[in-house]
Amino acid sequence: MIYQNMKIAIIPGDGIGREVIPAALSVLDAFSLDIEKIPLDIGYGKWQRTGSAITDEDMDIIKECDCVLFGAITTPPDPGYKSVLMRLRKELDLYANIRPFAPLKNPCTKKFDFIIVRENTEGMYSGVEELHEDIACTTRIITRAGSKRIAERACSLAKDRKKQITIVHKANIMKSCSFFRDISIDVARKKSISYNEMLVDAMAYDLILHPEKYDVIVTTNLFGDILSDVAAAVAGGLGLCPSANTGDKYALFEPIHGSAPDIAGKGIANPIAAILSVKMMLEWAGRAEEAISIGKAVENVIQKGIVTPDLGGSCSTTEVSGAIAKLIFTF
Ligand code: NAI
Ligand code: MG
Repeated sequence: MIYQNMKIAIIPGDGIGREVIPAALSVLDAFSLDIEKIPLDIGYGKWQRTGSAITDEDMDIIKECDCVLFGAITTPPDPGYKSVLMRLRKELDLYANIRPFAPLKNPCTKKFDFIIVRENTEGMYSGVEELHEDIACTTRIITRAGSKRIAERACSLAKDRKKQITIVHKANIMKSCSFFRDISIDVARKKSISYNEMLVDAMAYDLILHPEKYDVIVTTNLFGDILSDVAAAVAGGLGLCPSANTGDKYALFEPIHGSAPDIAGKGIANPIAAILSVKMMLEWAGRAEEAISIGKAVENVIQKGIVTPDLGGSCSTTEVSGAIAKLIFTF
């Protein structure tokens, strides 16, 4: 399907989200597509001003859009605060967090190309928690329906790739993990996708040593969150890695990094993760040609050394995005 007249909710959020999202939009704008952008002020800044990071009205506006482009939100220092991103993922039922990793940084030492498919709505992030004086408890909820649909999503991605998935769990210790594993295996068999299994700790180790061995990795929420940061380090840094939070109809695209308060406001945040998130959004919207040209422009700019300090360069956020925007028509 190719979206015409796409309506996107734009949520820069906090910190470097306010720098990398405008930079990514300058690349999107270079295509002159028929896209309506609805800017929304959501996050810690809004929480400081109004006591609420996101309102029900914001949610209504978001639901009227086709998808969201999201920067990052700082976690407010209030134990009662409920994560905006968790609310968006749950209310929009964005159950599959798709995170592709390939080496972009030059010179790359290894060739690899894998995707982490992370369950996004349950597991350790189900939000079922109790905090008492001497004990705190977080309930890890894994459902049959949730496990089945994330395994199905992984298999559907694997079908167009190497037809194999790696199921990551800790089934030697946790019953909720053997439940997840058994359901995933059942789905893989039914879909004629080959599978192997890895314990999550061994997986973290092996991803660093042998990333080239993996193709589609499917796992639960917290494990996927941690493994993606491990994978980001292997792929060249958090500033390079995009993600898509997808449901059956709706989607939210975001860099995997946070609001990076340590560098916010300095104009040196790497915009590539956000720009590649726009690339994923265009792929999702059926705009393959535009997505490919963004990918090529990003590779080219990195090869030329037009990069921010996190990649050893001295360019600013807007110098990098400007160079990418200029290049997209040459591919
Ligand atoms: P972080 O991802 O913001 O930063 C980790 C390190 O990576 C920092 O040194 C930062 O400078 C660097 N970094 C991250 N993105 C970069 C970029 N594009 N260019 C250059 N360097 C980059 O993670 P951290 O420090 O744990 O979290 C900071 C805040 O962000 C916290 O309040 C946290 O809750 C929030 N957060 C929000 C997320 C979201 O909204 N999706 C995800 C992760 C964290
Ligand atoms: Mg994370």
